[in-house]
Amino acid sequence: MAKLLIIYSTTDGHTRSICERLQSIAADGNDVSLVAMAEQPDIDIAPFDKVVIGASIRYGKHQQEVFDFIARNQAELESRPNAFFSVNVVARKPEKNTPETNPYLKKFLKKIAWEPQNLAVFAGKIDYPRYDFMDRTMIRFIMWMTKGPTDPTQTIEFTDWSKVDEFGKKIAQL
Ligand SMILES: Cc1cc2nc3c(=O)[nH]c(=O)nc-3n(C[C@H](O)[C@H](O)[C@H](O)COP(=O)(O)O)c2cc1C
Repeated sequence: MAKLLIIYSTTDGHTRSICERLQSIAADGNDVSLVAMAEQPDIDIAPFDKVVIGASIRYGKHQQEVFDFIARNQAELESRPNAFFSVNVVARKPEKNTPETNPYLKKFLKKIAWEPQNLAVFAGKIDYPRYDFMDRTMIRFIMWMTKGPTDPTQTIEFTDWSKVDEFGKKIAQL
């Protein structure tokens, strides 16, 4: 069985949930390891046959740990099948939900030297009750500006799980 590493950067756990779904699908034919980047930033990726990185957006950016991890592991990433996916709520909009049209992913790819062989973008989740006052206020404002939901008592999941499943099948066969 191929050894597949799925390593993720998350703040509120939704990217992990997406990775768990990918893991369950890719487990068909792969020995999948699921790792939080924050917990094992220096993990050695050499023993893995293929690597998938997933990361969420917060205030317009992926976390610094993602840039650092990629810079540290660029040669190893390039020498095996690989993929990257981004999670953000702008991707809830059909015209911004592909690697070619999602502004965060496009910007991110310009900033890194690694060129992932496979890309995906998934719409994330808004969990107003979980956020502190500042974040809730900011996200509500952004949602109001972009015609999204603003009810502070609501949790809204925009993720298209069938798209996640499709990507899971793809990484299973890298
Ligand atoms: C404080 C905060 C800031 C965010 N900023 C953005 C943003 O600038 N653009 C965007 O599309 N989504 C933004 N989001 C939405 C997140 O990308 C979304 O909630 C995602 O599901 C988070 O994934 P995670 O739980 O793995 O961190 C933000 C969410 C929070 C809580």
